[in-house]
Amino acid sequence: MKSNTMRIAVFAGDGIGPEVTEQAVRVLDKLGLSGLELLEGDVGGMAYRKHGHPLPPATIETARSADAILFGAVGDFDLDTLERHLRPEQAILGLRKELGLFANLRPARVFEGLEELTTLKPEVAREIDLLIVRELNGDVYFGEKGMRKTADGRREGYDMMSYAEDEVRRIARTGFEAAMKRRKKMCSVDKANVLETSQLWRDVVIETSAEFPEVELSHMYVDNAAMQLVKNPGDFDVIVTGNLFGDILSDQASMCVGSIGLLASASLAEGTYGLYEPIHGSAPDIAGKGLANPMATVLSAAMMLRYSFGLEEQASAIEAAVARALAAGVRGGDLGGSAGTRAIGDAIVDNL
Ligand code: IPM
Ligand code: MG
Repeated sequence: MKSNTMRIAVFAGDGIGPEVTEQAVRVLDKLGLSGLELLEGDVGGMAYRKHGHPLPPATIETARSADAILFGAVGDFDLDTLERHLRPEQAILGLRKELGLFANLRPARVFEGLEELTTLKPEVAREIDLLIVRELNGDVYFGEKGMRKTADGRREGYDMMSYAEDEVRRIARTGFEAAMKRRKKMCSVDKANVLETSQLWRDVVIETSAEFPEVELSHMYVDNAAMQLVKNPGDFDVIVTGNLFGDILSDQASMCVGSIGLLASASLAEGTYGLYEPIHGSAPDIAGKGLANPMATVLSAAMMLRYSFGLEEQASAIEAAVARALAAGVRGGDLGGSAGTRAIGDAIVDNL
């Protein structure tokens, strides 16, 4: 954190992004934090329409001058036919890479009273309290990729999967450190029975475990992990995994606890810098209608106070306010209720 200011770049983005970040900003305002300074920037499809690029240089500059980013969402079906480097998603992928945001923390836990809303049996869902630690700067996401012709003229797409040992070591450490603050269990998920990338992953995680003798380490193939996440999800504490497997498993985990509209995430660099975003996307079908549930974004703002600014008390206060609003029956459409974006924001602010 630079001096005693809190410079937060708010990148609202596409679809429901602006509506949900607006409510998160209201919640931050209500806390009366001193030195709070909000910056704005264009990302995603809206940035492409304005500047011809989903992640304009000015946005990256704003991000670099801030202490943390509060991110809404990017995505716009109308732009899905653009060349890949101009598509809205490149904004978030570009920020992750440019800013070295290598560690993605995605907690999943069932809020009291919402057990009935998951597709799992309530008694299974109730046990879930896990944290997915997903690597965010490597893997098949950022390897060499392209389209080419085979020797006999067939079209071929390719994406190179790879991890270097230092990349695995630093995310393994993030996972172990998180486990030390939780139930001291970590499951590393890979596909070492098939992939060399995963064999190295597993070897390096085992090597790194020597630094964390108190953490009980286990390993699981990703297909089995997908199965265990719906069979015995309560057995997981920290799950550490690569970029692609983490992408898939974190969506699955979000459904296991009821709604993707409640899941926050942090993407951290070395040090205290981080980007905080709800894990739902831009939801173009309900954008601009005041229907989106802002809770995931509000909870992301809480993670921001905790991880980038060390404000544990204020972070917990926000989380408690969301829990109280839910306990009082405030439900967005994603939870089968009828409360709108603004009303949910009001309920959280009132419960702070
Ligand atoms: C996520 C999203 C992104 C990803 C997309 C939007 C590029 O699905 O944050 O999980 O694949 O990482
Ligand atoms: Mg995803």
